[in-house]
Amino acid sequence: MTPQQVLVIAIPVIGAVFVLFVVLVATSRRRRADERGSEDLTERFAAALDAVPGGFVEEEDAASRTSVPSSSSETPPGQGPKEKVRPMATALLTEAPSPPLQFGEKPSGDGHKSTEVEIVEPKIKLRPIQPAADEEVEGMTRRQVLNRGILLTLGASLTSFGGAVIAFLWPRLSGGFGSVIAAGNMDEIKSTIKANREPFYSAAGRFYLMTYETNLDDATGESIYPKAFTDYKQAGLIAMYQKCPHLGCKVPWCKSSQWFECPCHGSKYNAAGEWQGGPAPRGMWHFPIKVQGGTVMVDTGKQITGAPKGTNTPVDPLPKGPHCVGI
Ligand code: FES
Repeated sequence: MTPQQVLVIAIPVIGAVFVLFVVLVATSRRRRADERGSEDLTERFAAALDAVPGGFVEEEDAASRTSVPSSSSETPPGQGPKEKVRPMATALLTEAPSPPLQFGEKPSGDGHKSTEVEIVEPKIKLRPIQPAADEEVEGMTRRQVLNRGILLTLGASLTSFGGAVIAFLWPRLSGGFGSVIAAGNMDEIKSTIKANREPFYSAAGRFYLMTYETNLDDATGESIYPKAFTDYKQAGLIAMYQKCPHLGCKVPWCKSSQWFECPCHGSKYNAAGEWQGGPAPRGMWHFPIKVQGGTVMVDTGKQITGAPKGTNTPVDPLPKGPHCVGI
């Protein structure tokens, strides 16, 4: 398994685990916050109950009933109408003037009607108000499951996409474009080029190897093709990236002209990939090469920017016949 394949598999898995972890932590925190909020609400309500004047009792207590006269005049118990009132109303009832006497009633000594008032504690059994059932607290609802499912799917998709992009852009460490490629035996490559009158092409490395003769000195040549010119000169081979520097088409070789000619917009390059015409802004990209034990190694992970317009480094840069693409 290549490092790229490992990355493509590992990155989405790690991303999905991370997203799951974040969701679980967020859920746990929210649940704890909800529980704390519920407890606070209960405590606040209990405090509010304690502050109510007159207070409330939790259970009905029959023994707490008391009987007091409603006025200063002594009226025997059991006489007069009985009323059930709350404690807070007691003072008002005892001090309020008596209603007009009814037929058969006797006035009391101070002119007030004697009324027996029975104070009855409220029979209401109060309990702290429980907050309304909260679906978020009591468990995972369908909506939560759906939301988290969507979130997870989205996270996994984005992670997979990111992993694929990284894997695509990641330079290959061995084999294929982006890595150092063993093109073949140097002498055999040269013989093949001469016999076929066309460059050696590597589909895996997306490069051309072409024979190269130049009269340039090393310093000048290195200023044009940094860290590559000397090796080109010594090997008698030069390596070009197949991609057109105009808009990226693959530039084919024209056998009749012995130039590279781009069919997309007509850019043309000499046998060393240097600009000769068309809309391209400069010459073709190059790759450094090394000859190791007679084998030509091309480093496709290091692109060298093409030479500027007007550069002609080969001994004979002119076309050898008709062009394949019109200017
Ligand atoms: Fe080659 Fe436009 S892509 S000339």
